[in-house]
Amino acid sequence: MNRFLQWLAAYVLAGVCQTAAIGGQAATVDAAALYGQHCAACHGADRLGAMGPALLPESLERLRPAELATVLREGRAATQMPGFAGQLDNAKLTDLAAWLRTGPATSRPWAAADIRVSHIVYPATDSLPATPVFKADPANLFLVVEAGSHHISVLDGDRLEPIHRFRTRFALHGGPKFSQDGRYVFMASRDGWVSKYDLWNLTFTAEIRVGLNTRNVAVSDDGKWVLAGNTLPQTLVLLRADDLALAAVIDVKGRNGRASRVSAVYDAAPRHSFIVALKDIPEVWEIPYVSMKAGTAPATRMIALDDVLDDFYFDQSYRHILGASRDGGGQVVDLAHGRKVAGLALSGMPHLGSGITWVRDGHEVMASPNLKQGSISVIDMQSWQTVATVPTNGPGFFLRSHENTPYAWADAMMSPKRDTLQLIDKQTLAVAGSVTPSPGRTAAHVEFTRDGRYALVSVMERDGAIVVYDARTVREVKRIPMDKPIGKYNVFNKTTRSSGTSH
Ligand code: HEC
Repeated sequence: MNRFLQWLAAYVLAGVCQTAAIGGQAATVDAAALYGQHCAACHGADRLGAMGPALLPESLERLRPAELATVLREGRAATQMPGFAGQLDNAKLTDLAAWLRTGPATSRPWAAADIRVSHIVYPATDSLPATPVFKADPANLFLVVEAGSHHISVLDGDRLEPIHRFRTRFALHGGPKFSQDGRYVFMASRDGWVSKYDLWNLTFTAEIRVGLNTRNVAVSDDGKWVLAGNTLPQTLVLLRADDLALAAVIDVKGRNGRASRVSAVYDAAPRHSFIVALKDIPEVWEIPYVSMKAGTAPATRMIALDDVLDDFYFDQSYRHILGASRDGGGQVVDLAHGRKVAGLALSGMPHLGSGITWVRDGHEVMASPNLKQGSISVIDMQSWQTVATVPTNGPGFFLRSHENTPYAWADAMMSPKRDTLQLIDKQTLAVAGSVTPSPGRTAAHVEFTRDGRYALVSVMERDGAIVVYDARTVREVKRIPMDKPIGKYNVFNKTTRSSGTSH
């Protein structure tokens, strides 16, 4: 689900998904001294971030070696990050790069006390009016995450015009999450900042740093709690949704005592619980809202699995999880009974987290793109059989639709046809058409207006755009310039959990 937006952000930033091979030996005293002299003022003596982002190995996980070298040499245009090519020779820059990939000499955990000290409540934001300061329909707003310069644009979904643009923390991870009434937005950044934003008054109200490397946040449907999942440290952090005050820190340790990074947290509204996916152990956790109280760790239900669940889809009731297995194929886990109930016949690397559902011939079907092959798998949600495999232009990330539109839109962003989206007829399962917003440039991630009339597509480049299509005629209506618009989120479709989008 939203985890893939983080991945996507990194993919767009790095060019390809690839983890760096690291030779740890170069962690020389020299590099540490160079860091202290040239970098610490902005990135923090402890590398935890200050004016600039954190520079821990975990922070840089998704930066390709070539991109890291370029940043050190040339800096980043239009930011405070200077280039060092003039001051430090190549050997020194190579040393520095290798050293950044190793842990800091004194790593300290980010404990409850650190979290509390970081808490910021912006003055006078608790008495702001409960009516929007703009005329647009507050339920048809879009938030567009512009990763190029760490901003969010707020679009009016009726007039298809931006009404506001604001700076976010460095590198948002996971999608922004809305409160049920659509007024508040909660977002997490790579470096662990959780921010609460009042969308009706267009202002931040509170922030807190919950960790050093964070995956995403979820907000409880009753509006009371925010749960953040970290990879560093290996914790879950529960916050009160009203002012983001710390309620509890939960160490992530499985049934056998093994610690794990969190891969994502989700709100399972129909179950009145949060679901936690873990990266390193074959378990999925459920934390019921009723067990939450400030000051105590909530009761956690740990469900054992056959395999680590890396990428998965919830059905609309949140009763079942459809997960991909690392060795191919998939599994269906029944959350009520806490066990696997079926296998899934899938090939390639299905991207179940980006799955959507609709009704075809009286049957609910789920379709998901594939990260390794040009195909869309369509699964019957009752028999769990694969009913069709639709060939597409190439491997893609997202599949999106809306209750009021006949097509599912699929990208091929991991292929040479990354500039083209194909429209699949939800009844015949045939490819019915395609759009190429800007030839040669990556186009992906579709979100519909609340009525399903328009489809908004991202051209994911620094001088990119949101391109708006009439969802019925598939004609371009307009384009709005944006700085690497990676994800977009419609308040109505998200808060009503539209079956055409991930939640
Ligand atoms: C004047 C402040 C400043 C100094 C000095 C500075 N940086 Fe930066 N650095 C930044 C800022 C701000 C960013 C974020 C740029 C952006 O928005 O992409 C950044 C980004 C980076 C990034 C990219 C991080 C990412 O995840 O994309 C790396 C790597 C980095 N700096 C390394 C260094 C190193 C190594 C030094 C010292 C040799 C250094 N910086 C000195 C401010 C600074």
